[in-house]
This record gives sequence, structure tokens and C-alpha cells, in this order.
Amino acid sequence: MKIPVLVINFKSYMESIGKRAIEISKIAEKVSEDTGITIVVAPTFVDIVKVKENVSIPVFAQHADPINPGAFTGRVNIENLKDWGIDGIIINHSEYQLKISEIDFLIKMARSKNMETITCTNNIDVTKAIAELAPEYIAIEPPELIGGEISVSRARPEVIENSVKMVENINKNIRVLCGAGVKNSEDVKRAMELGSKGILVASGVVKAKNTEAAIRDLVKGMGE
Ligand code: G3P
Repeated sequence: MKIPVLVINFKSYMESIGKRAIEISKIAEKVSEDTGITIVVAPTFVDIVKVKENVSIPVFAQHADPINPGAFTGRVNIENLKDWGIDGIIINHSEYQLKISEIDFLIKMARSKNMETITCTNNIDVTKAIAELAPEYIAIEPPELIGGEISVSRARPEVIENSVKMVENINKNIRVLCGAGVKNSEDVKRAMELGSKGILVASGVVKAKNTEAAIRDLVKGMGE
């Protein structure tokens, strides 16, 4: 994916499930076409195939289970996502944390299927451990700021700066993203100045009164 990148995580909000998932994705696609900025959408498993059929921007899963295909009731494996053309996977989100062995399995399995992974980390020590696994992207999200009104770039700028430096020392190919509480272009701009290559956002888009205006404003912070 071309950087910078804006990743919209739909989570399981009322405002972003079902038909709304398609509506938001189409708006994201339009903004991406107008501005040239990469916008990724991450709908629920229930909505993901329909979304993929309706837009041409990258569609990521919010999670995948660290399993091979087989007798696993109620779980979703990477093969299944690949079958439907899903472009990538968010791994180890703060709201769905995994063991390091599971993260390793998922990164390797996704890579073998030519799917990109964004692995989330909740602090600097976890970031260090994950960087050794060489995912394409690491997204640092301080959990206490997720869903709040104050962005990571405002409240914890040092977390972004230190993570970027540390990851660079371990593996220059990994791109560091950040998220939590990001609401406007100023938050995004600040994050980019601190070395972030993109943003993960949920409530700032999903709960916005005007979805298109919210996405356009965030993208503006990427210097579109
Ligand atoms: O994955 C992105 C997310 O955790 C950030 O959520 O609502 O703070 O933008 P939010």
C-alpha cells in the first residue's frame, strides 16, 4: 500500500454495521479517489465480503484466528479471507489481544498469501517484541486513549516518537502507524510530524455526524 494510509476500523458500532458499512466504505472510496490518499476500511466479519464487493479500496479484517482450515467452529481463518479477496488483516488489536506465538503465526500465514498485516501494540515493550516478527505495519495505540477525545499525538507524542525510532533500529522496512482518540486534521498532522506513516481511526469517523467531512478532514492532515 502506498503511504500515508488512513485505516478506518469499523469495530462493531451500531453506526458502522450492516448497510452503513457499505455506505461508509463508499464515502471512503470517493475521498481516496479525490485525494490520492490510501484509505483502508475494516468492517466486521459479517459485513466484510459485501463491502469488498462494493468498493475498490483495500478492505482489511479486524482480526483472524490463528488456525489452519479445519474443525474449528465459529472461527475465521486466513484462507477464508483470502478466498474472498480480502486485502489484509489487523492483528492483536487492544480489544482482541493474542499471544505472541499466535501473532507470529498470523503474520507468516498472511504473508504466504500475499496479504498485508497491521499488528497493533499497546506499549513500547510490546512494540519491541512485535518488531522482531517483522509485520508490514505496527500500529501503536495506547488503550486508555482509544475511543476518547484526546488523540495519541496530543496526549502521548513521546510514544509515537520513541516507537518510530525503536522500530527503525530493529527493522527499517516496518512502517509505524498510530491511533487512539484521533479526531481531526491537526491530530493527524502532529502524528505524521512525529514519524507516523498513517493513522488508525474508529469513533472519529464512525460516530461523526458528517462521515465525508470527517474523513476529508483527517486526510487533510496527511497533506492531501
Ligand atoms: O483501531 C483504531 C481504534 O482502536 C482507535 O479508536 O475510536 O479512538 O479512533 P478511536
